[in-house]
Amino acid sequence: MCRVCGGPVRQFFDFGRQPLSDAFVDPDRVDEEYFYRLAVGICESCGMTQLLDEVARDRMFHEAYPYHSSGSVHMRRHFEQTAGRLSRDHLRGPDPFVVEIGCNDGVMLRSLAKEGIRHLGVEPSGGVAELARQQGVRVRTEFFEEASAAEILAAEGPADLVYSANTICHIPYLESVFRGLDTLLAPDGAFVFEDPYLGDILERTSFDQIYDEHFYFFTVGSVRSAAARFGFEVVDVERLPVHGGELRYTLKRAGRGSPGPAVAALLAEEDGRGLGTPEVFDAFAAGVERVRSELTGLLKELRADGKRVVGYGATAKSATVTNFCGIGPELIDWVCDVTPAKHGKLMPGSHIPVRPTESLAEPYPDYVLLFAWNHAEEIMAKERLFRESGGRWIAYVPEVRIL
Ligand code: SAH
Ligand code: TYD
Ligand code: ZN
Repeated sequence: MCRVCGGPVRQFFDFGRQPLSDAFVDPDRVDEEYFYRLAVGICESCGMTQLLDEVARDRMFHEAYPYHSSGSVHMRRHFEQTAGRLSRDHLRGPDPFVVEIGCNDGVMLRSLAKEGIRHLGVEPSGGVAELARQQGVRVRTEFFEEASAAEILAAEGPADLVYSANTICHIPYLESVFRGLDTLLAPDGAFVFEDPYLGDILERTSFDQIYDEHFYFFTVGSVRSAAARFGFEVVDVERLPVHGGELRYTLKRAGRGSPGPAVAALLAEEDGRGLGTPEVFDAFAAGVERVRSELTGLLKELRADGKRVVGYGATAKSATVTNFCGIGPELIDWVCDVTPAKHGKLMPGSHIPVRPTESLAEPYPDYVLLFAWNHAEEIMAKERLFRESGGRWIAYVPEVRIL
């Protein structure tokens, strides 16, 4: 049943039993892993693409949530620019107030805090919330929903802007979020959020964007219909080149703004592509099977030839790739990552060890499988010497190839 409208959900892919994507495992606690069924479908009634099973939110977002938004220089720059844009477009009145849902380590809000703008982050994961505080950001350690929004309103007054990046798609209880927005936003306040775009996921066969935390896969069409249900309207939309392709939506209360030309243009494009039709999902499913067989084929071949292969980026995305494709330590020796909290742990389900990125050069392997493909430019520039020493990168988005 659709989590937005209660309509029937047509499944288009089942990845089977999967571990929590960000639950890196202590080597002496491998028997305590939690698994769930990862299947995805589209609502035949409102067109919202979503997971069929929901993982309880505190299993994923807690004190030890290991994802740090500031881990990428490129993303730090993206959020600095975003802060500038938000403050020019939405925070021009006297003493404006902005709330961010899922501020993580403060990667965006710290810029607004530095400008002296009244702000508040809402972040349930205690560890990253503390990192944000160390950056001068004010944070409430809790989930944004109807009840917390009412408390924020009482304590701080109405918000001119509520912003959220890579978080709204993590929240199955959208109705509660929209009620909270309706409570908290000033009459002409705006809700701006950005998340991975289903259009890009289908086009690039980036099936690794599908995992426990990513509950929804938005399109302008499905966001517009959900917003309307909850008394809001999409007034602007913008494509973003980050994380493999995202959309940034600007919403206002219905009747408080008029949709700009970009909304109609992208809706028409989605219609033209048949986004949401069974044919498009069938093609995606075939693409996923092709990537699985080519990637495992290549890794087995390299292994048979005696090559050393490691992974780069212990991403949440890689949990889907390794577990769905059946890639374990017999094909990939280990994965390197900059995040200290992931070091010395095993990747969820596959149990491939995670090491610091410094390990890469000790000595360089023959091949590196780029799990953090959305950061390809930044990582390949940083690891230029690997390539110069004769090493080769392996990519699997949009198709399996050696770079
Ligand atoms: N905005 C950051 C973080 C994205 S990770 C970025 O774009 O990089 C998603 C974050 O959402 C996590 O830090 C998680 O703890 C948080 N989150 C999950 N559910 C939430 C909710 N209901 N309210 C606020 N934050 C939430
Ligand atoms: P990311 O692709 O942003 O997200 P997700 O976990 O949601 O799939 O994760 C990037 C991971 O790659 C993160 O664990 C940090 C790591 N990383 C590096 O190790 N080196 C780098 O230069 C960059 C940019 C990321
Ligand atoms: Zn629906």
